[in-house]
Amino acid sequence: MMSLSSKIKSLPIAKVFSKDKLVASPFLNKIGIQPFRLWLANKRYHDKQYLVDSSVVNQVDQLMKDGIILVENFMSDSEFAAITKECRSFIDSDSFETSKKVGSNTIYNQSIENMDKTVYPTTTGLLNHPLLLKLFSAADKRELDPTKGDIIILIQYLVQGDGEDLDIESELHVDTFFNTYKAWLYLDDVRLENGPFSYVKGSHTNLNKDRYNNVYHYSLQKDVSGSRRVSKNEVDDLGLQETTVLCKKNTLAMANTFGFHRRLQGVNGNDRLTIAITAKRSPF
Ligand SMILES: [Fe+2]
Repeated sequence: MMSLSSKIKSLPIAKVFSKDKLVASPFLNKIGIQPFRLWLANKRYHDKQYLVDSSVVNQVDQLMKDGIILVENFMSDSEFAAITKECRSFIDSDSFETSKKVGSNTIYNQSIENMDKTVYPTTTGLLNHPLLLKLFSAADKRELDPTKGDIIILIQYLVQGDGEDLDIESELHVDTFFNTYKAWLYLDDVRLENGPFSYVKGSHTNLNKDRYNNVYHYSLQKDVSGSRRVSKNEVDDLGLQETTVLCKKNTLAMANTFGFHRRLQGVNGNDRLTIAITAKRSPF
């Protein structure tokens, strides 16, 4: 039998201050709980102070302004050669934890936490990479502790299919209602053919009346799991533009995925190997 505290925690009202994308309550959504969550989470984020490490101040300033930064030559040549070799050999071992179809494309994921540190020292060493920790701690405005699972790092191998079935990631969207960060260290050059990331710079800050309105209407839908889709009109109305991130391997792209973004559909048969990094955070 469910305890009283479990019952209370499962009530929709208890989800208002959670990181759930939406609250599963038609009544609460009708009275505008989702715009309220957006407002409060955003206010809390911007009110919070954090002393940014002086070595990353410029990068963090740009991240706050644009919602995205690119760090070229993220690793030294020798480190990058080592991580590429390790990850290629991991692909050859055919032992990814998960593989899933996203539309016509296939994505393979492997958590580096579950990999043998003696076989994959450079890859697993990313959990303690100083620059990565500094950037993510500054963006999240708290000291991150990789040993407590604050950062999740995956080897991600993406293979493009024929594009006949829609990859939902190729639709412009926001991940959630609060500021949250992801990064990708590219082990291959990123080209139009292998499904590049695409971002609308400035879309993480333009919280005007229309944005609240769109969020309100999105909250009235029945499906509470999907991310909010963003129309081209919404981008145009803000006077913003989408930028496709084409870059050289050994570039780290870091983005606030509260901003508008997507992964473009590439060309059948092309692939890309990436290290995907996410920081777990709670908006309240
Ligand atoms: Fe996303």
